Amino acid sequence: LNYLVPAKRKEILEILVNGLKRMEYRGYDSAGVGFEGTNTKNGSHELKTIKQKGKVARLEEEIAQTTDLDFEKEFDTHIGIAHTRWATHGEPSPTNSHPQRSDPSNEFLVCHNGIITNYKDLKSFLITKGMVFESETDTEVIVKLVKHISDKHKDSAISFRELVELTVQQLEGAFSLVFMSSKFPGECVSTRRGSPLVIGVKSKAKLSTDHIPILYSKEPNLSEKKDHRGLMNPALHHTDSTTEFHPIGNKEVEYFFASDASAIIEHTNQVIFLEDDDVAAVQNGCLTIHRIKRTLDESATREVTTIKMEIQQIMKGSYSSFMQKEIFEQPESVVNTMRGRVNFETNQVVLGGIKDFMTEIRRCRRLLFIACGTSFHSAVATRQLMEELTELPVMVELASDFLDRQTPVFRDDVCFFISQSGETADTLMALRYCKQRGALIVGITNTVGSSICRESHCGVHINAGPEIGVASTKAYTSQFISLVMFALVMCEDRISMQDRRTEIIQGLKNLPSQIKAVLETDEHVNTLARELYQQKSLLVMGRGYNYATCLEGALKIKELTYMHSEGILAGELKHGPLALVDKAMPVMMVVTRDKVYPKCMNALQQVKARHGNPIVLGNNDDKETQQQVNKYIGVPSTIDCLQGILTIIPMQLLSMHIAQLRGCDVDCPRNLAKSVTVE
Ligand code: G6P
Repeated sequence: LNYLVPAKRKEILEILVNGLKRMEYRGYDSAGVGFEGTNTKNGSHELKTIKQKGKVARLEEEIAQTTDLDFEKEFDTHIGIAHTRWATHGEPSPTNSHPQRSDPSNEFLVCHNGIITNYKDLKSFLITKGMVFESETDTEVIVKLVKHISDKHKDSAISFRELVELTVQQLEGAFSLVFMSSKFPGECVSTRRGSPLVIGVKSKAKLSTDHIPILYSKEPNLSEKKDHRGLMNPALHHTDSTTEFHPIGNKEVEYFFASDASAIIEHTNQVIFLEDDDVAAVQNGCLTIHRIKRTLDESATREVTTIKMEIQQIMKGSYSSFMQKEIFEQPESVVNTMRGRVNFETNQVVLGGIKDFMTEIRRCRRLLFIACGTSFHSAVATRQLMEELTELPVMVELASDFLDRQTPVFRDDVCFFISQSGETADTLMALRYCKQRGALIVGITNTVGSSICRESHCGVHINAGPEIGVASTKAYTSQFISLVMFALVMCEDRISMQDRRTEIIQGLKNLPSQIKAVLETDEHVNTLARELYQQKSLLVMGRGYNYATCLEGALKIKELTYMHSEGILAGELKHGPLALVDKAMPVMMVVTRDKVYPKCMNALQQVKARHGNPIVLGNNDDKETQQQVNKYIGVPSTIDCLQGILTIIPMQLLSMHIAQLRGCDVDCPRNLAKSVTVE
């Protein structure tokens, strides 16, 4: 984060720490800040860091206890950077947290989100040059490398931005980076490749422009070239001398660099999303965006856009956790997903983001749905309906496995990438893999401006609103509905499917009130949680449309309660899982009144015959099934293919209650991150 008006250090640190708190939900195990100032004792410009293991609150305590900070006198701080780290290389510790430093005098500091895959080679090289490493992180090579390059250029007037450009050219992997340096007071340089980076612009006055021209390095051969329409592009003539900067704003403007808009939304909703290899620099209070090379078909500007996120959306309010808030928001979030898209009077469904691509999509020979975690389960949940309504082969794939297999992909495939964050590394990598092979790319995300959004040919925003709890809840139900809407669009011209379409659309209309009714089971679910919370394991069984509820329900239990849990396809019961069942094994079974009901009842009898005492999750009007068991959670009945939206909610509630009873952190489960931007 970067703050440019003259201000006291305390204010800077507060802004940084608050920004980190807004990002807490992404999952982390340590945190740190770096800030600058002038040492009044010797007049030198210095950088300092404060770093701590654990929660942001611990860092805050550490900052408060650091007695040598003289907020009023010693420093006149303009820039600060901060970071929460989720360990990939090296255990969580103050030394391994960011900012990482170039040397004990803190000449350069960097914060890094992502992973450097060639760090071992770089580290060996830098060690031969006499650099001494202190952390076990991959990040440290970046800041040592910038120092090495700076030392090599010590006699030239190389700019901070150029140093960063030379450094990142040596890096492989995924990163967003923000640098500061005591050699370049008041300056800050930031860049990205593969990991997200957004710049917030806060200004009292109206900005002079909402399109920032990109500056390119002087490359004579490039400046002679014409763009694809045969015109000379004026942007190619920008030079990078300070006098010719095309800056945005002036000293009255504050800039915030962050990997997530929620960190900065309380300051501004005016943002610039950077593209891979953009290098943004703030110098003399002015922001410039620079690229080394220009490919002729790329845009020569970056736009300042206004994002709609509200600060209330990322606050907990009266709820005990973000997860609870998000579960209880589902009656509204599903409406937001359907708003302006489903017309309940005319039975029309329009998805604006893919409308222009529908002819191509209808002509495809196969649909692929690729995702990780909960997002993957939303594809499993809708697969049967997708096959029914599109009559196309449908593949549902976990991104990591899809890549491991180097799955064949064809030009006439349509590949969907489902991701709440839009930043999951495996999903993004799979997207690029499919794009390279010429397939049409459709993004289904909850994050406007995310990498998956920007790299897709077209897509659907699920509009569930920010999801903060690490365990996904409302995004799942909204992804589910988005995929159902897509299936409905695919069959809109099929006369034979009109009755089915009508019943599904009516089902969608009734969902918000039915979700409200499901949420009323909360107390009852809490009672069942009390019976379960000391158990070691919970099996969740079902089949057909509810199989995804079993997988997703078991994932919620695992993530939040650290209990072992397994989603089991009831059709496979006899092929292994039945061996686990006895009178002590906790079992949940999803048994709703659809086509596989008799088969589910069969499975229920088999479990009971092994002295199992399952909790059944079924329809609240199904007295017959209810009589079979002594623990029952009833949800309203809807059309078969939408029933999974109602059956998952008690599982969300159950996992939350068990987690609370076991004393687990509901919003930030151990070892997990909301947004997994590393492979
Ligand atoms: C992480 C999160 C999960 C999430 C998965 C996919 O593992 O902890 O809750 O389902 O990533 O994330 P995405 O943002 O791509 O949906």
